[in-house]
Amino acid sequence: MGDISLRMMTRELCHELFQNWENDPDICMDMALFKPYQYDEAAVNRYFDAKQGPSRVLLAVMKDNAPIGEVQLKRIDRERGECTLSIHMQNDAYKGRGYGTCAERLALEYAFEVLDMAAVNADVIAKNTRSQHVLEKVGFRFLKEENGFKYYRCER
Ligand SMILES: CC(C)(COP(=O)(O)OP(=O)(O)OC[C@H]1O[C@@H](n2cnc3c(N)ncnc32)[C@H](O)[C@@H]1OP(=O)(O)O)[C@@H](O)C(=O)NCCC(=O)NCCS
Repeated sequence: MGDISLRMMTRELCHELFQNWENDPDICMDMALFKPYQYDEAAVNRYFDAKQGPSRVLLAVMKDNAPIGEVQLKRIDRERGECTLSIHMQNDAYKGRGYGTCAERLALEYAFEVLDMAAVNADVIAKNTRSQHVLEKVGFRFLKEENGFKYYRCER
């Protein structure tokens, strides 16, 4: 899947990404609270601003020069050399085609090579078996299940 890359998220890319965004029910713990996503320019600006800072890197998953997903390396702890991965593809058109697997591999490479992390963590809602499968496929190890979440870790 050589046509996928990661790029530092910009405000412009963030708007482009969220203009065609769909929330995925797999990341929603309580479906009574699930709402379809509606683009709101001001909310995207607030979102982008809130994600800036030294403990997080926000990346766009790029295909054909357009954003098709978002990757975050968050809770970056430089002393311990670890961070936490989160990923969400833009909508169903970009799921189930290998792009997420490719993006996770690139995110691990970024965390280990660029951020010099020793380990990357991930936590997933128990029902999200697709995400768990992809995490294991790219090298994450299952640690434990607690309070409805499954915890994973990938060491360099
Ligand atoms: C999770 C996510 C990033 C994966 O990316 P993707 O592009 O859809 O995944 P891929 O196409 O690379 O791989 C999907 C794999 O899961 C498997 N799969 C699909 N549905 C599955 C299910 N219900 N249970 C288990 N495995 C499943 C596929 O067979 C494939 O595995 P294979 O390559 O071994 O055949 C993407 O689906 C997504 O953004 N989901 C919504 C947000 C989310 O769940 N984020 C993760 C939160 S921790």
